Amino acid sequence: MKDKTAFLKNKIDTNSPNKNIVPITTAIDSTNQLSIGGCSIEDLVRKYDSPLYILDEITLRNSCRAYRKALEKYYPGKSLAIYASKANSSIFMSNLIASEGFGLDAVSEGELLTALKGGVPNNKIVFHGNNKSDKEIEFAIKNNIKVIVDNNHDLKRLKEISDYFNYDIEIMIRFTPGIECHTHEYIRTGSFDSKFGFGIESLSKIFEVINTTKHIKLIGLHAHIGSQIFELDPHNDLGQIMVDVISQAKKFGHNIKELNVGGGLGIKYTEEDDPPSIDEWIRTVSLSVVKACKKNKLDLPILMCEPGRSIVSTAGVTIYKIGSFKEIPGIRTYLSVDGGMSDNPRPITYQSNYSACLVKDPLNSNSKNKYTVAGKHCESGDVLFKELELGNCKTGDLICVFGTGAYNNSMSSNYNRIPKPAAILVCDGEAEIIQRRESPHDLLKYDVLPDRFMKQS
Ligand SMILES: Cc1ncc(COP(=O)(O)O)c(C=O)c1O
Repeated sequence: MKDKTAFLKNKIDTNSPNKNIVPITTAIDSTNQLSIGGCSIEDLVRKYDSPLYILDEITLRNSCRAYRKALEKYYPGKSLAIYASKANSSIFMSNLIASEGFGLDAVSEGELLTALKGGVPNNKIVFHGNNKSDKEIEFAIKNNIKVIVDNNHDLKRLKEISDYFNYDIEIMIRFTPGIECHTHEYIRTGSFDSKFGFGIESLSKIFEVINTTKHIKLIGLHAHIGSQIFELDPHNDLGQIMVDVISQAKKFGHNIKELNVGGGLGIKYTEEDDPPSIDEWIRTVSLSVVKACKKNKLDLPILMCEPGRSIVSTAGVTIYKIGSFKEIPGIRTYLSVDGGMSDNPRPITYQSNYSACLVKDPLNSNSKNKYTVAGKHCESGDVLFKELELGNCKTGDLICVFGTGAYNNSMSSNYNRIPKPAAILVCDGEAEIIQRRESPHDLLKYDVLPDRFMKQS
């Protein structure tokens, strides 16, 4: 039978954290307990409570450096790696990626503000979105942040706002290249039927319209074909298609200096996943752009990429405490934890799979039982694992779920009025808080009872 804890024994790839299930610093200490970043998880929960998001600084920095190193190797001197902050947005994350020389992509005023507060230079931030508000566009323009124009409405508003303020602005155009890739329908964005970006067939018209504006200068192209992608071919095709569009734009007098190929590199959530390495992905994208530029006799543009998941996912884990058990004889045993769909909506939204182990005796050396791991929310579908093999465990024991650094904290909610967990950073045996735990009282902060109701009560 397949060893379900094999992932804890695998050799760790320090060059490409997206190929590991666990953070690089994961260890089992002398008391047979799990530690990350040199910190005992049990101690962390004693101090910070559960559920708890943990981020491992070494893994995070390794991911950033793998991207920078590969870009320097395959596309020297002309690239910018941009962190897709939707994966995990905080002042801390903004600060860390800025310290690694990354830019940042944001899709709301909240993400823009977080990036600026975290110290990301404004000339390295790009602003996305298929329905930006006027207020958000104004915020971006006033802070000299480059806007990625997604549709006609966006272009029209940008023209009006830049005319009104008499401001010159540089933009990139996002388009759908018509590339299909094998990933979940909700995270596939590059095919023709997508809410994001201009259809490739409409670009000539858009290039013409931009020529009629006074303050807008088109300097870049953007496309993002989806997320959690394991194939390299779609990104090879993307490079070629995007360079063809540079040639097309040139015919309308636009000099495209920047090419942003989006993000999308997958990560290893379970033993079945086998994503390409960061090096392989960057190599594919770079070679395809270089080859197409040569063929089209074009100067190399600045190459930008926007990884999110492959920067932060593997660096993150979530710790839960086990509460109740419910055995349905002959069917299954439910084991419920103190979090669930409010801190990790991915299983209920995308049927996503994860790997996990007990914090105490992580290799299940005593025995193996199968459990359905349920969250605490009032929703039957709030199940984190349909079937998870664990050793003997009881109420109060801790479970560590791996690969939760991306699209967990940032997609979390207060469903059932459950406060969001704290997030901590671990490194070299030290733990620091990067997001404080919410309390039920925090959740009341924005509730208002109109005066006339007060009188009635
Ligand atoms: C425009 C854009 N860029 C980058 C990303 C990051 O993708 P990933 O986290 O898969 O690297 C996304 C994610 O959906 C996106 O929509």
